[in-house]
Formats: sequence, structure tokens, C-alpha cells
Amino acid sequence: MTNIRTVLVIGSGAMGSQIAMVCANAGLTVTCTDLDQSALDRAESMLRARMDSTVAKGRMTAEQRDAAFERLTLTTDRDSAARTADLVIEAAVEKLVVKRSLFAELADLAPESAILASNSSSFVPSSMASAVTHPGRFCNIHFFNPALVMKCVEVVRGPETTDDTMVAATAFVEEIGKIPVVLEKEIPGFVANRILGAVRDEALHLLEGGYADVEAIDTACRTALGYPMGPFELMDLTGIDIGYLVKKQRFAESGDPKDQPADTVTRLVERGDLGRKTGRGWYIYSDSGEKQGINQL
Ligand code: 3HC
Repeated sequence: MTNIRTVLVIGSGAMGSQIAMVCANAGLTVTCTDLDQSALDRAESMLRARMDSTVAKGRMTAEQRDAAFERLTLTTDRDSAARTADLVIEAAVEKLVVKRSLFAELADLAPESAILASNSSSFVPSSMASAVTHPGRFCNIHFFNPALVMKCVEVVRGPETTDDTMVAATAFVEEIGKIPVVLEKEIPGFVANRILGAVRDEALHLLEGGYADVEAIDTACRTALGYPMGPFELMDLTGIDIGYLVKKQRFAESGDPKDQPADTVTRLVERGDLGRKTGRGWYIYSDSGEKQGINQL
């Protein structure tokens, strides 16, 4: 057992809410915060539906579900929770300036012994650790979507991260039932997203070159390569805006035109078609989440 008993998750979007639930399911006391009560209400109803379905499938008892929700608090009161947290996991918007100012505040609020971690994969630990006091306690703990299901969690060391922080973060990942993949040296995207990004870029190249359509490319990935879902289906699941912001950030750093977001991605983001969360992305979805056809570009 680790010393981490109390976790604060910043952000109640698709990632933050499920990360919080994973921790609560593992017996930890968790607070999940957001700026906006309506985002927390949406997160709670999504989590309740997910956990009800887990109970209905016999994977968990109703008592275990209820006990997990007892341990989980969804609130806009971030500061009180930060004062008693052993671990803070930030899963807010993928904008560095927001993350740095969040961490600067959290470093002052949280106990000095608390680990500060970002769920980001595009921003490496050193880009955020420099905003906090005692940067040795900073690392990235990167979950995959959907966090309730995906086993892998990357634990990433920055140049200043201490051995104690890495050991505690890795033990935490094991304690919540996930499989840690440790990166001893930071690189944007870490392992899994770098590989995924290469596949995604090629899928967009094939689409924009007119070689094959969205559905054909997804079908090839599922039925020839054994992927659980194709790259366009996956972008719809994770949010098209997430990949777009990652590319914008990479282009801002490199100035290399090949790091710009693809034209089709930009068009969807500008239209507000961000994937499953808005009901339209590469595909169109019904209210119950059923795929209904391709969204015309
Ligand atoms: N949230 C939570 N649980 C979900 C879910 C969601 N959005 N979607 C599906 N599930 C659960 C189901 O309830 C089901 O649970 P069960 O095993 O208890 O019955 C289980 O997942 C399997 O679901 P389904 O049978 O409905 O469908 P699939 O077999 O197709 O699985 C999937 C769905 C797990 C999402 C699978 O398609 C998959 O693994 N897809 C690839 C996901 C992936 O690549 N994720 C990484 C994205 S990159 C990333 O996250 C990085 C970040 O930086 C953006």
C-alpha cells in the first residue's frame, strides 16, 4: 500500500471524471473539481450510468458501487480539497498557460509532501514543474481514454523529478489496478500517443489525398490490423479538439508546417464538431451514442 490515500483531480471532463472514479473504485478518497457546477453534474450522471452498467453486468456489487460514490466528492471547492491531498492529478484543458497557473496555485495550497501530476501527454513535466515550488514532486501520470477501461498509465520523469516521486507515483498506478509504463526521460507524446499520432497522420493523409474515405480507413484498421477502433472513430472518442490543440502546440514550438493540424481537422474544430461529446465529429451520433453515418466535410 502507498502513502497516497487522498487524491484531488482537477477537471471533470471525460478524462478527469473517469480518473476520479478509478481512484474511488480502488478505495481512495477522491475529490474531483471543476470551475462549473454543470460540468460536475454531467460528469456525475455519466459516472452513475457507467457504474450502474458495471453492476448490471455483475462486475461489481451495488454495495461496492455505493461505497465508491461515498468516497468521491464532485465540487467546485478546489482549495479545501487541495489542502489535504496526497496527490493532485490535473486533467484540465490542454493549454500550457492554464496548467502552469493552476500548478503554481496548487503548489502553494497542497502539503509540501503532496505529489503534483499532470495527465497531459503533450506537455512534458519540465514545462509545468518550473511553475511550482519544490519541483522534485512533479511528474506526469498519463491515463488513456476511456480511463475506466484502459489499463496502461504512463508515469513520466522530468529532469527534476525525484526518485521518491517516481516510486510513489508508480506504486499509486499499481494500487489503482492499472499497468504503469515508466518513461525515465521526457519527450512530448510519451510512448503510446507518439505511435498513435503516426497512425493518425497517415490516416489523414490517405483521407485528404482522396485515396479512401473515413469509413474505409477505419474498417481497414479494425479488420486488417486488429485495432479495437479505427483512427477516426478514436478521434471522435477522445475529442477532435484534443488532437488539434496538441498539433497547434507542436507547431508553435517547431514552426515546421508538417506539425500544423490537418485541414479537415481544422474544419471540424471550427464548426464545433468535436466528436462524440458534441454528437458530431467524423461521424454523426444519436443521443444514445449510436453511430448514424459519416459527417460530410
Ligand atoms: N467509458 C467508459 N467505459 C466504456 C466506454 C467509455 N466511453 N466505452 C466503452 N466502455 C466499456 C464498456 O462499458 C465495456 O465494459 P465491460 O467490459 O464492463 O462490459 C467495455 O468498455 C467494452 O465496451 P464495448 O463492448 O461497448 O465496446 P468495445 O469492445 O469496442 O470497447 C473500447 C470499447 C474499450 C473503447 C475499445 O473500442 C477500445 O479499446 N478502443 C481504443 C481506445 C484507445 O485507443 N484509447 C486510447 C486513446 S489515446 C488517449 O487516450 C491519449 C489521450 O492523451 C488523449
